[in-house]
Amino acid sequence: MRVAVWFALAGCVVAPPRAGAAEPTPAEVFERRIVPIFKSPNPSSCTQCHLAGVDLKDYILPDADKTFRSLRDQGLIDLDAPEKSKIVKLIDMGGGGAGGPAAVHATARKAEREAFLAWIAACAADPKLRAAPKLGEKDRALPARPPEVIRHARKDRVLESFERNVWAYRFRCMNCHTEGTPQNDKYRKEYGDRVAWVKKGGPAATLDYLIASKLIDPADTERSLLLRKPLGEKHEGGTKFVVGDDAYKGFRTWIEDVAAIRGDKYAAAADLPPADGGPERFGTDLWLKLTACPPAWGDKFLQARVFAWDDKRKAWGDAPVAVSDRVVSGKGKLWQHNLTLLAPKDSDRAKAWRAGKPSLPEGKYLLRVYLDADGKLAKDWKAVLGDGEFVGQVEFPAKWREGYGAMTAVDADKVRK
Ligand code: HEC
Ligand code: HEC
Repeated sequence: MRVAVWFALAGCVVAPPRAGAAEPTPAEVFERRIVPIFKSPNPSSCTQCHLAGVDLKDYILPDADKTFRSLRDQGLIDLDAPEKSKIVKLIDMGGGGAGGPAAVHATARKAEREAFLAWIAACAADPKLRAAPKLGEKDRALPARPPEVIRHARKDRVLESFERNVWAYRFRCMNCHTEGTPQNDKYRKEYGDRVAWVKKGGPAATLDYLIASKLIDPADTERSLLLRKPLGEKHEGGTKFVVGDDAYKGFRTWIEDVAAIRGDKYAAAADLPPADGGPERFGTDLWLKLTACPPAWGDKFLQARVFAWDDKRKAWGDAPVAVSDRVVSGKGKLWQHNLTLLAPKDSDRAKAWRAGKPSLPEGKYLLRVYLDADGKLAKDWKAVLGDGEFVGQVEFPAKWREGYGAMTAVDADKVRK
């Protein structure tokens, strides 16, 4: 179906000139159809997937002849079959899906496609232009950013990072902020649509909303509402983060990166943040609590790392399968929070959790407890708790049933070094 439309369209545009009819010259077609794309303040269809780094405008020069030679000499146009031109294929990239972002950019994409086909056809029919000399490499029009930066700024990459750094921690926010839930409907009546920022469409829809919203402050990322509200600053939802906890680290890392991408701040590969080789993270409604915490832990930030028993090796796993962090309630001597599950990137476990519901099997586990007694994280949000903050460990059995009411409890009294 799509193919048929494609050829019909291409056929009609590249039909050979009728004898006698005054066909517009390539320069005229360029002026009428390509220049408006070049000058348009509107984003090109490329922005559906490329948040920065490359745009259709990057391939256009003010001069018609030079634009032609530039594209031709980069192998981006096919004079014998204009619809097979690489530049047209790039324009076609977003046409795959129905609805969603593909639909948003459909009008721009159609106009770009038809304009380029008409102009390439006109150029192809002009023997003088076809034979025009090569354009010097430095005069060619191409994206200013290197491939590494183009890759980093691709929406699918940004989404991957969003899932790992923000979406994984949504369990702290979603009861109140997920669009279409009874609690959110209630808040919406009181505070307006702005409270519905966790979209029912899932991570991609939430990402689209957030990057277009005022919740990220590109000029002062640390002051972004998406960070300040959960820190408890004038937030009806109270304190959900402390500076330096895992969720804060994730949100801030992502916000800084996305602001840099949108602001076109990465010029070279060396400017990019280091690749995150760490595990993939999965938010859950599995809860862990530590009862009878000693008074010395009161009001201190505690990180729990959970290790699974490896029956083959007869040893505890080297890396945690789950983590969680929060401040210990001083009065209640209680620490409780939901778990973020971890799986090595692209591992079978990560794949299974991505496809289905992340869960842990019933069995024996080891809990290692880290306490930030000196406010290390408040001083440096990137700091990681280590041996200096280790206060002890304990083995415990767990069924890992979901829900606040089915919490796994561990007696803090049994935690030993
Ligand atoms: C539907 C999403 C989507 C749209 C729309 C899109 N791209 Fe891409 N683009 C990608 C993906 C995914 C890759 C990586 C593809 C690969 O590695 O094969 C990519 C790669 C590229 C590259 C890297 C080099 C290459 O040749 O693979 C360039 C340059 C590029 N796109 C330019 C554009 C331009 C210009 C537009 C608009 C006319 C555009 N893209 C529209 C998804 C898209
Ligand atoms: C117990 C309910 C509740 C929880 C949990 C909660 N919030 Fe909120 N949040 C609210 C309410 C109500 C508002 C609107 C009033 C206000 O601005 O404080 C709000 C406002 C916000 C806003 C401002 C939205 C805007 O467009 O102005 C942001 C950002 C925000 N919350 C982030 C978070 C994050 C991030 C989390 C999780 C880490 C979270 N909230 C958890 C109730 C909650």
